[in-house]
Amino acid sequence: MAFLRFFLPVLLAALAIVSPSEAKKQHRHGIHKLDGVDVSHEVVHQTTGAKLPPVNTTYYFDQLIDHDDPSLGTFKQRYWFNYQYYQPGGPVILMNAGEGDASPAVPYLLADLGIPGVLAKEFNGVAVLLEHRFFGLSSPYPDLSVKSYRVHTIQQAIDDHEYFVKNVKLAMPGGDQLSPDKAPWILMGGSYPGALTSFTMQNKPGLFYAGWASSAVVQAIADYWRYFEPIIEYMPQNCSTDMQAVIAYVDDTVASGDTSKIQALKENFGLGGMVHNDDFASHITDEFIGHWQESGMIMGNGAFQEFCDVLETDDNGKPAGPQGLGLQHALSAWGAYSRVDVNASESPYLDRKELSCNLHEIACFGTYNPQSPNYTNTTVPNDTRSWQWMVCSAFGFWQNGAPEGKPSIVSRMIDNAYYQRTCQLYFPEAFSSPPVNLLTALDVNKQYGGWNVTTERLIFVNGRRDPWREATVAADGSTSKGWDLQPHLLEDGYHCNDLLVEESENPVTKAAQEQAIGYLRTWLADWKPSA
Ligand SMILES: *[C@@H]1O[C@H](CO)[C@@H](O)[C@H](O)[C@H]1NC(C)=O
Ligand SMILES: *[C@@H]1O[C@H](CO)[C@@H](O)[C@H](O)[C@H]1NC(C)=O
Ligand SMILES: *[C@@H]1O[C@H](CO)[C@@H](O)[C@H](O)[C@H]1NC(C)=O
Ligand SMILES: *[C@@H]1O[C@H](CO)[C@@H](O)[C@H](O)[C@H]1NC(C)=O
Ligand SMILES: *[C@@H]1O[C@H](CO)[C@@H](O)[C@H](O)[C@H]1NC(C)=O
Ligand SMILES: *[C@@H]1O[C@H](CO)[C@@H](O)[C@H](O)[C@H]1NC(C)=O
Ligand SMILES: *[C@@H]1O[C@H](CO)[C@@H](O)[C@H](O)[C@H]1NC(C)=O
Repeated sequence: MAFLRFFLPVLLAALAIVSPSEAKKQHRHGIHKLDGVDVSHEVVHQTTGAKLPPVNTTYYFDQLIDHDDPSLGTFKQRYWFNYQYYQPGGPVILMNAGEGDASPAVPYLLADLGIPGVLAKEFNGVAVLLEHRFFGLSSPYPDLSVKSYRVHTIQQAIDDHEYFVKNVKLAMPGGDQLSPDKAPWILMGGSYPGALTSFTMQNKPGLFYAGWASSAVVQAIADYWRYFEPIIEYMPQNCSTDMQAVIAYVDDTVASGDTSKIQALKENFGLGGMVHNDDFASHITDEFIGHWQESGMIMGNGAFQEFCDVLETDDNGKPAGPQGLGLQHALSAWGAYSRVDVNASESPYLDRKELSCNLHEIACFGTYNPQSPNYTNTTVPNDTRSWQWMVCSAFGFWQNGAPEGKPSIVSRMIDNAYYQRTCQLYFPEAFSSPPVNLLTALDVNKQYGGWNVTTERLIFVNGRRDPWREATVAADGSTSKGWDLQPHLLEDGYHCNDLLVEESENPVTKAAQEQAIGYLRTWLADWKPSA
């Protein structure tokens, strides 16, 4: 659920459109999608001049439904590849698209857009994009029920990598000579697939020769209130001060139990119809806060900056100083901003018509209605639901309000219990009692190493401003500092910026990308086939 502006004018038009429904109420995660980029044109091989199929040509791999029980058969797992730079002996660069439909990520295979394409060009390799099981159209089962999700685990996804690498025959000259004993494989991904890169290499030593893990959230953390720390650290200070004042006021007002004051507060935000205080409090920040992670040093951070500009402009149109404009102004400016959004014709809440909800009764979209299709619909595809399963069953990563005593830009009503209740709404059969406690999250860390990953020839690249930073090896609490066979590179961008060619315009990102490419070049020079 990430959108961006691109430097090519035609892309700019296509990509600047932010679907409002994408930015809401969903667990914030994921790589930048490059949808809107036309990749349907023919590609010409660099040396032979042969015409190759367009890179959006979809291929289907017969993947095992259950690696613990191959007798259950196979499903069609989608993949795409680009071999315009391939020369015999070159590497295979495999990118897992992770927790979303992979088709919008196909442009990453092109050298002028994404790092997988850049690596293919640099090393005369072939770049492959694999759709993660249960996302997009790569579904092992025809529905997204809890029963089907039995095989929606991190380990099954890791095993998918192994089975794919050992069995795929790419439809290209020499495409049946690419098993990992004959060609070096490089695994890569950003965000969850960044972590999956680390997990796979830790779990299957020797399968992949090298890896590039971008914004890899290797350390599962259930109560992930630190999501907001890099935001507070790097957002305009005045805006942060005023946001904190409003959030404290919201929490105090709700805690006061004064119903007419609470009602007036909700109405200030155009949300008078919302019954549940926690849903209300969640909604007022959900509008824009997710845009922070979708930002880039080159792309900018549109919606988030827009919000701060609203908050920090006084009634005479003058910008605020470093101390901000205070609670009263912030409440009224934020209220107006939220009311406009609630009424806007492109509001995601338009969907409520289908649910025959009153236009202003947002309660029906809150987290208390087990009949909402958000929770009951198990039709394929539904990436939101499939990701929800992963956070509920494995990761946690609840984007909570900060503990008392720490600055918070989201309400403290948003806590483990709030998110755990959502898990019970989505998957009542699986979680009759609260799921994902700290123990479950620790299981993932124990199994795949978390911050203590010992894998060699694995590059971590992180962004200083990334809200996910505190779950990566760049976290303040990380136990691992990296070494020359496991470089930890830090650039000054946001989430997964290093995977984008556009962000190379930022010299700090470019330096990290070039360093990473340098490591791969050195390591590839040492690779020898074993068959
Ligand atoms: C329900 O799903 C829609 C579409 O994915 C989303 O925009 C909305 O925020 C969701 N509502 C809740 C309460 O999760
Ligand atoms: C490739 O893109 C073109 C143009 O968007 C589209 O018409 C075509 O269906 C796509 N092909 C595949 C296999 O997705
Ligand atoms: C105040 O906030 C505005 C709006 O986001 C920002 O552009 C400006 O840099 C901030 N000023 C100071 C002094 O922090
Ligand atoms: C939003 O729509 C409601 C109902 O039509 C109206 O009462 C309210 O004044 C509108 N708010 C704004 C800010 O336009
Ligand atoms: C997931 O389900 C919700 C609720 O039915 C729906 O609004 C949304 O469009 C679905 N998402 C996808 C990616 O299909
Ligand atoms: C259920 O989800 C499917 C696929 O996302 C969608 O086409 C359908 O409209 C949804 N049904 C309801 C009742 O929301
Ligand atoms: C990582 O190493 C530290 C220090 O040795 C240890 O305390 C911690 O439990 C380890 N974490 C995991 C997930 O194994």
